[in-house]
Amino acid sequence: MTATVSGPLVGREFDRIDGRAKVTGGAQYTAEVPLHGLAHAVLVGARVGSGAVRSIDTSAALAAGAVAVFTHENLPAVTTVPPVFPSAFGGPAPGQTFFPMQDNTIHYFGQPIAVVVADTFETAQHAAELVEADYDRNDAVVRLDDGRDAAYQPDRVFCDMVPARQSRGDFDAAAAAAVHTLDATYHFAANHHNPIECSATAAAWDGDTVTVYDATQGITATQQTVAAYLGISPANVHVVANYVGGGFGGKAMMWPHVTLAPIIARELGRPVKVVLNREQMFYGTGLREEQEQRITLVCNEDGILTGLRHHKLSVTSQFDDWAELSLEVAGKAYGIPNWDGQYRLVRGNTMTPTFMRGPGETSGMVALECAVDELADDIGADPVELRLRNHAAIDPDSGNPWSSDGYAECLRAATERFGWSERDRRVGARRDGHWLIGWGMGTAGYPVYLPGQPQRAHARLLADGMLVVQAGTQDFGTGVATTMAQVAGDAMGLPFHRVHVDIGDTRYPNIAAAVGSMGAGIISAAVHTACTDLLAQLISLAVGDPESPLRGRSPDEIEGIEGVLRVRTDPAVADEYAAVLGRNHLADLEAIGSWRPPAQDIPYGKISFGAQFAEVAVDPELGMVRVRRMVGAFAPGRVLNAKLARSQVLGGMNWGLSQALMEGTLCDPRDGRWANSSLLEYLLPVQADAPEVDISFVEVDDPVVNPLGVKGLGELGMVGAAAAILNAVRRATGQQIREIPLRIEHLL
Ligand code: MOS
Repeated sequence: MTATVSGPLVGREFDRIDGRAKVTGGAQYTAEVPLHGLAHAVLVGARVGSGAVRSIDTSAALAAGAVAVFTHENLPAVTTVPPVFPSAFGGPAPGQTFFPMQDNTIHYFGQPIAVVVADTFETAQHAAELVEADYDRNDAVVRLDDGRDAAYQPDRVFCDMVPARQSRGDFDAAAAAAVHTLDATYHFAANHHNPIECSATAAAWDGDTVTVYDATQGITATQQTVAAYLGISPANVHVVANYVGGGFGGKAMMWPHVTLAPIIARELGRPVKVVLNREQMFYGTGLREEQEQRITLVCNEDGILTGLRHHKLSVTSQFDDWAELSLEVAGKAYGIPNWDGQYRLVRGNTMTPTFMRGPGETSGMVALECAVDELADDIGADPVELRLRNHAAIDPDSGNPWSSDGYAECLRAATERFGWSERDRRVGARRDGHWLIGWGMGTAGYPVYLPGQPQRAHARLLADGMLVVQAGTQDFGTGVATTMAQVAGDAMGLPFHRVHVDIGDTRYPNIAAAVGSMGAGIISAAVHTACTDLLAQLISLAVGDPESPLRGRSPDEIEGIEGVLRVRTDPAVADEYAAVLGRNHLADLEAIGSWRPPAQDIPYGKISFGAQFAEVAVDPELGMVRVRRMVGAFAPGRVLNAKLARSQVLGGMNWGLSQALMEGTLCDPRDGRWANSSLLEYLLPVQADAPEVDISFVEVDDPVVNPLGVKGLGELGMVGAAAAILNAVRRATGQQIREIPLRIEHLL
């Protein structure tokens, strides 16, 4: 096994290469793409949560200037329902097994029942208001409590990937022998992603080929999905995503509007654009499901955790068995020999829930980490020490070693930076004026997912020594293009400014959708592979060139640094890249790198670990909670760009605050309508809520997951943060709140 590669650019802080375009307004997002003869489409959503459209009247909309109105009565049928395109992980993509307007059935409030098209957006919007529909209504089930009695255990959840019932050891026996038991049920409100850029798709046909501009986390997935729905070859679907204004999982799947745009553009013979409004984002792009997680945690007299039962009950749609994977890291973080995990579902009238930042672990690790922390207090153990004592040295499911770990180092770094040794164990002992001060912590962990298919990138060295790197990925705010330039520069021996990166176009080589924190790992691997292939070609050309100072040398002797090939042991013997190409009359030299990820079942456990700490202040009269500071230490393998990495985690930790104290989508049970579907009423933290955040990275070498040892970071920064806050509130007040988000009224 070889250690992971490194170079002078990877790991350093570089500003985003698209930063200037973004802050000056030069960056063109999907809704802004200028298309000649563009028509604007506005979706009309159902006003009932369950039932059917009895009749629909579009005459007023047409009279008001709409050029066309599509309903289930005249929308061309899609070819495949469900579409055959598998998700990045293998099973059917959540939400894509149902396509609206194929008949008059209504499965969820806001389900598109009509698309109104006009020459201007304003006309389309006005005409959309004039569409009149009558419904047959059924009672809508949207909340857990409405469907609890009909809960079922499916065979599998999460794109059919994971059995709904799993176990190891014998939990009941462990529980019978335990000296201490903690049994607690945590309730999580539904959450919605709310990226700043609302989802949008524009489609323009040229003959039998359509160009789809889409705000997506996976251009290739968009291409495959649209092709399947339309019954045409992916060769005839060209997808472009120049800039994407945030996704967080809500742009990972191809929701109906993505395919409606090309269908309608084809019908009308002109380009069509559809932009969801903020309210439609709540119905049309998935959500984190409302859920309940019951944890039963038992330990022996030494505080060793001997058993964990983790049962989850959550709401899914009418057409998919979806649950986010809340049991995965929670079941493996500690070396618990007896484990019993179960997913049960309630069929609800919602769109299928989907990936949302830290999918699964963000909720699962709140439940587990609140329970572990409470148990530590119950038995009089230090919560940090208890976790260290129980941390799994190997993957407790398979018995395999971790590909890399770093958890203990994260705990050490974070406790030191937080000042944990100064803690006072007594509840409510620490005060600041009338504020009660509490300290808490939570473990962070997120699996390293690996896509099944090869990941590709194209590298092309031009005659002047500039390198062009192209890959069919997209930047939805992560800074991937910037890290690609760093990885390419190191692999090819070029400075940062000599690398040009092109992304956001399916004409570039295929990269899987950026989900599950796979992006940085798979793209860096593809780019690294392409550039090392290219450098090898260049070296081979030089050593075979009679006019090169390197002629006759062995390729192994030669390295590329700053655009110059030279003999490692004798750097004066050198040849510039541009000179090699020039003498050989080459305009360019190119390579397609194809990196095949290790199989998902390689004999290693693969989790990125971290540790989160928080200090809260609670007003005992008003129940107000302020988070004063957060400290996080993370071991995500190789950090590609320290500035971008910090920025990712800063967002994740603040989102943890938001999860703990603010975010929750409330449903009107009469019709299944999301009652707070706006940024006014869906609470999010503002600057004044944001605490001081201290972030550090523990570098661990991971030679297993990919060439650069990147384990992924986007999700990890959120996992465990909410638990740290809720545990801090318990230390301040003595109250363990198991309703998430915690609200003022829970503390009063
Ligand atoms: Mo990530 S929540 O899987 O986009």
